[in-house]
Amino acid sequence: MKRLNIGGLIPRLPIIQGGMGIAVSLSGLASAVANEGGFGVISAVGIGMLEPNYRRKFRESNKISLRKEIRKAREKSDGVIGVNIMMAISDFDDLLNIALEEKVDVVFIGAGLFLKRPEMPEGCTTKFVPKVSSARAARVIFNYWADKYNWVPDAIVIEGPMAGGHVGFKKNELLNVQKPLHQLIEETVEVMKPFEERFNIEIPVIAAGGVYSGNDMYEALEAGASAVKMGSRFVTTTECDVSDAFKQNYLKATSEDIVLIDSPVGLPGRVITSSFVKKIQAGETMPVNCPWKCLKTCDYKKAPFCIASALFNAAQGNLDEGFSFAGSKAYLADRIMSVKETISQIMQEYAEAKYLAKLKLKSV
Ligand SMILES: Cc1cc2nc3c(=O)[nH]c(=O)nc-3n(C[C@H](O)[C@H](O)[C@H](O)COP(=O)(O)O)c2cc1C
Repeated sequence: MKRLNIGGLIPRLPIIQGGMGIAVSLSGLASAVANEGGFGVISAVGIGMLEPNYRRKFRESNKISLRKEIRKAREKSDGVIGVNIMMAISDFDDLLNIALEEKVDVVFIGAGLFLKRPEMPEGCTTKFVPKVSSARAARVIFNYWADKYNWVPDAIVIEGPMAGGHVGFKKNELLNVQKPLHQLIEETVEVMKPFEERFNIEIPVIAAGGVYSGNDMYEALEAGASAVKMGSRFVTTTECDVSDAFKQNYLKATSEDIVLIDSPVGLPGRVITSSFVKKIQAGETMPVNCPWKCLKTCDYKKAPFCIASALFNAAQGNLDEGFSFAGSKAYLADRIMSVKETISQIMQEYAEAKYLAKLKLKSV
């Protein structure tokens, strides 16, 4: 198996747990994954909703809560701990600064083109990993960094159309998929080559979106990825920080229950259907009472519902007033198990897939 090396960060396993908001992946899940040799990732978006004063002090609460969760994760694990921050949120810079002040190992940045190289505090060695949905977007970011800063990000996540949460494709591209994940991986690996040569570094390509089993992981690594990022697979773990009702919703879901909605973020979102989802799909609007405008792109006076409240309600177990984000393969979950068991199952599935592929080769 390939060894993942993100600028000198070398975890035991090439498995990255996807950052999941709101309040789905916090210190509990991130530290458990890091302890098993993967990358544990805390999602920063809306994290302050866990604080009592959130509605009055939105920015301050997000900062307090993110710092708290990073420190808790550090107390529970010596492994690799990262933070996921969406560029679409209005306090992106504040939360990035907290992650850097706390010297997290790595920051994953999605929902926008990550063009501005952050100022690093003294002694900070945090690695930066943007998430994109096409090799073209990867090229734009890396060209920009190379021209402007004479440097490039430390790795890249290429996320395909089967991912959970906000997906970087148009709805019609999701309903009629043009490029499967393996093709996106191959194209991104090609795009990274000249930058690896120019800067004499390794730039790992990390594959995400519908990577659920060890077999999926085998296929992604065979296509050229150096690691996989899995979100949905880690929701149904004992250590996942979300409510039990949210996890049970995953266990009950069938493949038909996993649907697309239009999110006020400006991207399609993949969710498990609920009474709330049916209402918004039927064109109903829910009153939005927004004192803070958490998303740069959200016109809250016109938004049909508040995505932050819907996600937070679901995370707390109130699924009638929200919905769970979920990847296309989330319906495969059949029980709650520990992170340890989950990872050992993935590795077992991976070994079987590799063995079967070898047998097939021999018989040809
Ligand atoms: C419940 C849930 C919440 C998510 N929240 C975020 C988030 O806050 N920020 C983000 O960049 N990606 C988010 N994602 C995307 C994941 O980080 C990951 O990229 C995705 O889950 C990969 O697809 P998979 O679920 O098929 O493994 C979320 C995904 C899920 C399932």
